[in-house]
Amino acid sequence: MNIIVNGGTRGIGKEIVVLLSKEKDHRILVTGRNAKALNLISSGSKYKNIATFVIDLSIFDDRQKSFLKAVSSMMKNVDILINMAGCLVIKDFMEFHNDKAREMMETNFFGPASMIRAIRPLMKKGSHIVNISSMGGYQGSSKYRGLSYYSASKAAISCLSECLAEEFRDDGIAVNSLALGSVQTEMFEAAFPGHKADVSAKEMAKFIMEFAFNGNRLFNGKILPVAVNNP
Ligand SMILES: NC(=O)c1ccc[n+]([C@@H]2O[C@H](COP(=O)([O-])OP(=O)(O)OC[C@H]3O[C@@H](n4cnc5c(N)ncnc54)[C@H](OP(=O)(O)O)[C@@H]3O)[C@@H](O)[C@H]2O)c1
Repeated sequence: MNIIVNGGTRGIGKEIVVLLSKEKDHRILVTGRNAKALNLISSGSKYKNIATFVIDLSIFDDRQKSFLKAVSSMMKNVDILINMAGCLVIKDFMEFHNDKAREMMETNFFGPASMIRAIRPLMKKGSHIVNISSMGGYQGSSKYRGLSYYSASKAAISCLSECLAEEFRDDGIAVNSLALGSVQTEMFEAAFPGHKADVSAKEMAKFIMEFAFNGNRLFNGKILPVAVNNP
């Protein structure tokens, strides 16, 4: 399988890449801003089946052409795209500067959306796009102070998943969104210091990987809450 993990330098994305790389026949392209972390991940793979590309999603459009060139040189088609990358800034709505709010929207919504548009022509029937959202962006979930822009950006990527499933349906390409509850990662620790998440990054990575492989047989255009608690 040819798989792109967008945002795989740390946290859940990194664990997904580690799991995927254990299968000799997978070819994996991993992105992120941290070049050093990308190199470490790539050089640590037993089967040398990981390629990397440095991308800042908040300015992805500038690098779209060179990214596509890198993808095409490595894989003829893309079977799975996992949009893991995300950023979380906690601040009351009234204190947010527009620049920061836009940066989060770019990273969590416009960047992944552009990534889908770039990769879509390389996807054949049976391919699967998995967008990673959050319980904060799940309709009717409990909402938390300071998470307005983050939650809204995650609701946007979830809604986009529903819409794109419709647009890509005739070509047999499925699009789903997983609305995660809390997972023990650096993002979680920075956002909620002293709190303990119910799920480890490894556990969630295994679930997402299996869903990416098989979920498209039973789900399309769905926003699925993946949480034992809320959030
Ligand atoms: N952990 C949770 O409790 C939780 C709950 C709900 C949803 N989620 C979602 O799950 C996903 C993974 O979260 P995580 O906890 O594993 O986070 P994490 O440890 O902070 O990892 C985030 C990943 O996104 C990449 N990234 C962030 N900003 C980027 C940018 N501007 N351009 C390119 N890549 C960028 C990071 O790579 P670089 O730093 O190398 O750029 C990193 O690989 C996120 O979308 C998050 O919103 C997490």
